[in-house]
Amino acid sequence: MATSHTAEDPAEDPTPDELIAGRPHLTRHAQDGLAMDGVPLNRIADVVGTPTWVYSASTMRARLKALSSALTAAGLDSHVHYAVKANDHLAVLSLLGAQGAGADVVSEGELRRARHAGIPADRIVFSGVGKSPRELTLALAEDIGQINVESAEELAMLSAIASGMGKTARVALRVNPDVDAGTHAKISTGRATAKFGIPYDDAVALYRHAASLPGIRPMGLATHIGSQILSLSPYRAAYARIADLVRALRQAGQTVETVDCGGGLGIPYRNQPTPSPAGLAGAIAGSFHNLDVRVFVEPGRWLVAQAGILLTSVILVKQAPGTRFVVLDGAMNDLVRPAMYDAWHGIVPVSPTDLVAPLSPADVVGPVCESGDTFARARLLPPLAANSRVAILDAGAYGAVMSSTYNARPLAAQVLVDNERWSVIRDRQFHTNLWEHERVPAPTA
Ligand code: LLP
Repeated sequence: MATSHTAEDPAEDPTPDELIAGRPHLTRHAQDGLAMDGVPLNRIADVVGTPTWVYSASTMRARLKALSSALTAAGLDSHVHYAVKANDHLAVLSLLGAQGAGADVVSEGELRRARHAGIPADRIVFSGVGKSPRELTLALAEDIGQINVESAEELAMLSAIASGMGKTARVALRVNPDVDAGTHAKISTGRATAKFGIPYDDAVALYRHAASLPGIRPMGLATHIGSQILSLSPYRAAYARIADLVRALRQAGQTVETVDCGGGLGIPYRNQPTPSPAGLAGAIAGSFHNLDVRVFVEPGRWLVAQAGILLTSVILVKQAPGTRFVVLDGAMNDLVRPAMYDAWHGIVPVSPTDLVAPLSPADVVGPVCESGDTFARARLLPPLAANSRVAILDAGAYGAVMSSTYNARPLAAQVLVDNERWSVIRDRQFHTNLWEHERVPAPTA
């Protein structure tokens, strides 16, 4: 066994058995192999083909309930706005909406999706550093709950649009608390150098200015420091700074009714220790419990990531000197996180025999023509062969939503498992769909 421990040391990794044990919706059966909520994944693959995204509805519901209960138990007047960007499928939005979740949206498309899925407008918050006049107009026309404004420039634009429409925008100022979330640089948003939010020291003056503007009603403050956050201390630091602002604003005679505490709660991709919803609720309560504010949270990943897998088949196993390459039919165009963020996703076999076979290291790759199309290196897996299936875990967030059709690969099918019943919630694209909106101009000569 290796004595040095690098990020790619398989001795450090949880085994497939440990990964399955940590995800209660996944179970192994001697006859059927790996199942999600009682549905054998091989059965889904036999009918729908691969690659296919498969989501557990009950897991999403249970996680929303766990988070909401933790916030309530901490004594907070709170509301969960699901960050639609993590997984914007209508079925996901409607099942979370039916459980009472609101939506955190960042574009016209997400706003329309949330409304189409039946989420009431007053439960929608619009975030984002660059909302266009058209998007702000739609948000006002729909009368959504709150618009999180990220700059003085945006505030001026919103005031002009709202007063022109004879409307009043309920606004929170998104403040950049200049806190390091300790996560991957590409998903860190809370440092002063990031493009996000209003500089901390400008917040009080801008809030007072907002209160004087036509068409604007300042409701409160918002912050979001990053994603896949694995420690509570950056949250505590950010919330303490925002709570200071609430006090300063009230001292200056302003009304502060809401604080949007953002999202970012990390999940144990690698079975590592992660903060719990109770921990997050405690961090929020620690700063805001006595401030008489309504607290919003906007988690994406925590609610849906672990509920989803990417079900793929092995095309072939290629033995190269010193390395066994397992080549899957899923690729970076389907799940880009490993290529984009060096993200670690568990990979587990599906068939009953593969689930009990001895493990040895393999590099798991897709067929796209880039070296970055690598899901895992030196991963402990059984001796897979062509047509064996594997599940790439924790792919319910930032999975299908980030897919592309690179290499002219059609978008994969999506399936929702709901208490032992399953349905296709998105058909696999046909190749003809790839070019159906393309036009070839007539030759000019
Ligand atoms: N609120 C705001 C303002 C956000 O920008 C985000 C995520 C969230 C909430 C939800 O964060 P979550 O709870 O999901 O961490 N594609 C990346 C993640 C990008 C997150 C962007 N903003 C990934 O695959 O890791």
